[in-house]
Amino acid sequence: MKVLVVGGGGREHALAWKLRRDDPRVEIVAAPGNPGIAALGRCVEMKATDVAGLAALARGEGVAFTLVGPEAPLEAGLVDHFREHGLAVFGPSRAAARIETSKRFAKELMLAAGIPTASARTFSDATAAKAEAHRLGAPVVVKASGLAAGKGVIVATTLAEADEAISMMLEGNAFGDAGHEVLVEEFMQGEEISVFALTDGTHVLPMIAAQDHKRVGEGDAGPNTGGMGAYAPVSIATPQVADLAVDRVFLPTLSALREAGCPFTGLLYAGLMLTREGPKVVEFNCRFGDPETEALLPLMASSLLEPMRAVANGDSLAGAAPLEWKGAAVTTVVAAGGYPGAVRSGDVIALPPDEEGVTVFHAGTRRDASGALVTAGGRVFAVTAVAETLGEAQRRSVAHAARVSFEGRQLRRDIGWRELARGARTP
Ligand code: AMP
Ligand code: GLY
Repeated sequence: MKVLVVGGGGREHALAWKLRRDDPRVEIVAAPGNPGIAALGRCVEMKATDVAGLAALARGEGVAFTLVGPEAPLEAGLVDHFREHGLAVFGPSRAAARIETSKRFAKELMLAAGIPTASARTFSDATAAKAEAHRLGAPVVVKASGLAAGKGVIVATTLAEADEAISMMLEGNAFGDAGHEVLVEEFMQGEEISVFALTDGTHVLPMIAAQDHKRVGEGDAGPNTGGMGAYAPVSIATPQVADLAVDRVFLPTLSALREAGCPFTGLLYAGLMLTREGPKVVEFNCRFGDPETEALLPLMASSLLEPMRAVANGDSLAGAAPLEWKGAAVTTVVAAGGYPGAVRSGDVIALPPDEEGVTVFHAGTRRDASGALVTAGGRVFAVTAVAETLGEAQRRSVAHAARVSFEGRQLRRDIGWRELARGARTP
């Protein structure tokens, strides 16, 4: 069976790796892929947003289904186009993807359906937005409505900061079209977890929770990044929290999306804040998270291929067996110097020898003209170690990541620190 994987980061490498682990006969074709994925299959030089080109590729290769990693092709309507042409595809339509691509759409849908989330109002006028921020008081959250590559959210600790963020987004054009509308949102206090669920639009197969580490520095200090690491499982995501996530968040959200005429199929990602009043939605994403996927998939003992193929073919997940999990994982991201700011690329990489229980997922790498592996992005690798305990997984992940060498390399050595501080052990 052939599968086309769209994208070329650490998440797509982990997805391709897991599908081959589920069934070694799976042939991977990736567009554009990366040198890590190239070791598992064939990479085709094509942009992830080249919808017509990808459809022609899927048809020409005779793939069983296409799996979309990043959000940009979903927003570009890849799934709609594939379905119109009778091609099986895993991912939501453009309209359903608005649960991520339009914060305004997501917030209005959640509030109308009674899904627990911070209250918020949308503005295109700066004066009115500032008045709302002053009414709520600091801390207050200001968000650009559209996709802003994870940079469109300001958690303002003072009203001056909130005013500045609003001016920058609505008057300064800081995020282009994504910033022409802002949400002014109530601040929520608590710890954040990421929960993913595979869905056919009605039924869900939830995964265990993971926790991302978005700040660049140890102890969660410094600027936000795309994610410096992740771990799973998370002990504060108790069975009760998992049930609430399904009953109060996933199922009513899917039902509201069906009623809005845009059923969501694929992978729905809920970023949940565990507040004193229970879990509340921080955001939805319409695709797998990165780097949580690199931590979760190596723990997944059951097949991802089977439910994914069912969803891609429009089949029901009713009666599907729950997903199974084993062990604890820590993923340490190895980033380029300067990340999350401007980074150098083209630096030659030396990798340590393979180690049992450790998987190195490529994120921002490429081969240069001489065939040498070189850096090609902010996040260069995601190094995942699986062990019986989280502490052991952290030690092994950090030890391996620290042996990856290139000029300016940076990494955090404390991924999973909140969980380790809780003294948790996995069963
Ligand atoms: P988002 O892009 O919506 O995930 O927001 C980025 C980050 O901002 C989140 O991961 C949270 O840490 C923080 N954040 C977003 N909304 C809120 C909120 N209402 N209260 C507190 N923190 C928030
Ligand atoms: N890990 C956060 C994201 O994928 O958006």
